[in-house]
Amino acid sequence: RRTQVGIIGAGPAGLLLSQLLHLQGITSVVLENRSRQRVESRQRAGLLEQNTVNLLREAEAADRLDREGLVHEGVILSYNGRRHRIALSELTDGECVTIYAQTEVVKDLITKRLEAGGELLFEAEATRIEGLETDSPRIHFTYQGHAHILECDFVAGCDGFHGISRAAIPAELQKVYDKTYPYSWLGIIAQVPPSTDELIYAFHERGFALHSMRSAERSRLYVQCGVDDTLEDWPDERIWAELHARLGTSGWTLQEGPILEKSITPMRSFVSEPMQYHRLFLAGDAAHIVPPTGGKGLNMAVADTKSLFDALRAWYQAGDASLLQGYSAACMRRVWRVQEFSNYMTEMLHLLPGKAAFDQHLQQSRFDLLTTCPAASKVIAENYVGIAARRAS
Ligand code: FAD
Ligand code: DHB
Repeated sequence: RRTQVGIIGAGPAGLLLSQLLHLQGITSVVLENRSRQRVESRQRAGLLEQNTVNLLREAEAADRLDREGLVHEGVILSYNGRRHRIALSELTDGECVTIYAQTEVVKDLITKRLEAGGELLFEAEATRIEGLETDSPRIHFTYQGHAHILECDFVAGCDGFHGISRAAIPAELQKVYDKTYPYSWLGIIAQVPPSTDELIYAFHERGFALHSMRSAERSRLYVQCGVDDTLEDWPDERIWAELHARLGTSGWTLQEGPILEKSITPMRSFVSEPMQYHRLFLAGDAAHIVPPTGGKGLNMAVADTKSLFDALRAWYQAGDASLLQGYSAACMRRVWRVQEFSNYMTEMLHLLPGKAAFDQHLQQSRFDLLTTCPAASKVIAENYVGIAARRAS
């Protein structure tokens, strides 16, 4: 089997890259080790920057997003029940964010690719990449019980944090930066209309909570939990009790409903540099992870994909290798801007176990600054909608 771009991973990065290349007449094969059903049902992110929405439109995969996405012009931060609205659109010359689940982005892209006859192999596990220093690298994979080889011009490593692509870069050329946090997130989807029109990110002395949504009928909620907690530690009644306490404010009530999904996500910051090695290019979680506070993981994967797409297009259509050569360096400035913002939001809003009194005063003062200093709110708004990352790249 041979193609121009061999793509490992059918997450948002791999699928979007394949679709954008297809629209330019560049062929690709996507290898995905999970089933289609699994890939389409993994509950993850839900917040799309304007840039991400624009790129999905460019990829002709935004019809349903444009119909069903919930556009938000503001976001609410809460500190022990005291709320402060960040007027995203007013502070950024009209930009906003859209709530539309990653599961739906993935479904829409898969439908588009398959409708166009795209080669998208599910339950196809990439096991090894060879020949990256040559003009025709080879991806070894297993599919339907047999070993296969995909030969290509370039390999796009879009296989997430646990994939194999990153490890194909020789360790002596790689720098890894890593930070873990002493708390996790427990996330639920509940069958109940959102109790708020805009997202609420809350610091509380019992810990962080976030009220997000999926549709007019479904709410997405998160609470900070311990790193060793399991779902058994969190019966439904305890989740609702914590959400009421942490999100609460006078004159407002959180509506409860049946919990459809529950899962726990660890929090980490991770960067692996460089994001390329000869004919291999990493995009998305394969190269970097952010803690989820601020909703940046998916958006950064999409931003990498756009850079990689532009670089491949320049190579195939104009014989210009300069964007490919500069890919990692171009991504890195944006990656660190987003790392800093995600870390800032995480550390401002979570309770440090052990109740370090000094740090809690700093957290409160950071929040107070937002309510008294419009420039501080503007910094959050520019990062949240994605302008700051765009400027950095
Ligand atoms: P992924 O979506 O991880 O896709 C990689 C794909 O590669 C997967 O489908 C995987 O099955 C496949 N793959 C791996 N290895 C192989 C192999 N050897 N062969 C073939 N295929 C392979 N971000 C937020 O902004 N907000 C959130 O609330 C949030 N919650 C999250 C919860 C969880 C549990 C996780 C894991 C992530 C969450 N994220 C969140 C982050 C966000 O979902 C990711 O940043 C985003 O999915 C990155 O997209 P990607 O395409 O780079 O990688
Ligand atoms: C969602 C997740 C986030 O991490 C975030 O910052 C905002 C929204 C969500 O899943 O809806």
